[in-house]
Amino acid sequence: MNTGIHSELDESPDSLPTEGRVLLRAAYVYDAVQPFVTLGQEARMNCWLADQLPLTDGMRALDVGCGTGLLTVAIAERHLQCQVEGIDASKPMIRVARKKRTRSNCIFRQALAEELPYPDQHFDIVTSALFFHHVNRGLKRRCLLEIHRVLKPGGRLVIADMDRPYTLLGTLLSYGAWILFRQPEIKENMDGVLRVEVSGAGFGTIQDLGRFSGYIRVFAAERLQ
Ligand SMILES: C[S@@+](CC[C@H](N)C(=O)[O-])C[C@H]1O[C@@H](n2cnc3c(N)ncnc32)[C@H](O)[C@@H]1O
Repeated sequence: MNTGIHSELDESPDSLPTEGRVLLRAAYVYDAVQPFVTLGQEARMNCWLADQLPLTDGMRALDVGCGTGLLTVAIAERHLQCQVEGIDASKPMIRVARKKRTRSNCIFRQALAEELPYPDQHFDIVTSALFFHHVNRGLKRRCLLEIHRVLKPGGRLVIADMDRPYTLLGTLLSYGAWILFRQPEIKENMDGVLRVEVSGAGFGTIQDLGRFSGYIRVFAAERLQ
């Protein structure tokens, strides 16, 4: 199933052209660093999130900005009768994901979130973890419109990302990351911009599902008919 896609990757650039903050060399240390970044919550959050998804046999799920595939594979391993795909703009990320995490019901492709290489209404669920604080407001909007396009009517978008922090440590970490990385996209998320854009892209009421590490919130919304 992966054959054609693997050869595509050999010829592609390290990063597809995007305004998003694409992680390249970080791919090789990402799995080691991520437990620290999430204060030890990364595995728990991904497994918990995968368990929340209302996937039944034969359904299709897409994980946007999948990185090394930590969430993607958690979904695939919990929903063995579903087909799960992960996309990321970074070739190194996709290489690591394919090396460590491809399963028979799970594939990874290098692709842009703002130009998803799928037909309309193709997926039942779209997930995204810690991706939207890597894209500016205009790009958030474009990505959400693309996600809306590839979701079936009634399909569900589930996002885990930086949001309004809810502990003192979470607040310090969020402001610290915003200043240290000079990343206005982080402040946008802290100010609730992502939620505004989700609603603006044609999704229904936002439902809060959970929160992790003092600064990450998980929320979901359905594509309206
Ligand atoms: C912090 S990582 C999150 C990875 C993974 N979802 C996780 O939870 O561990 C954010 C990812 O978004 C990717 N990215 C940034 N801009 C992108 C875009 N326009 N399209 C697809 N991926 C993008 C980066 O390359 C990076 O791998």
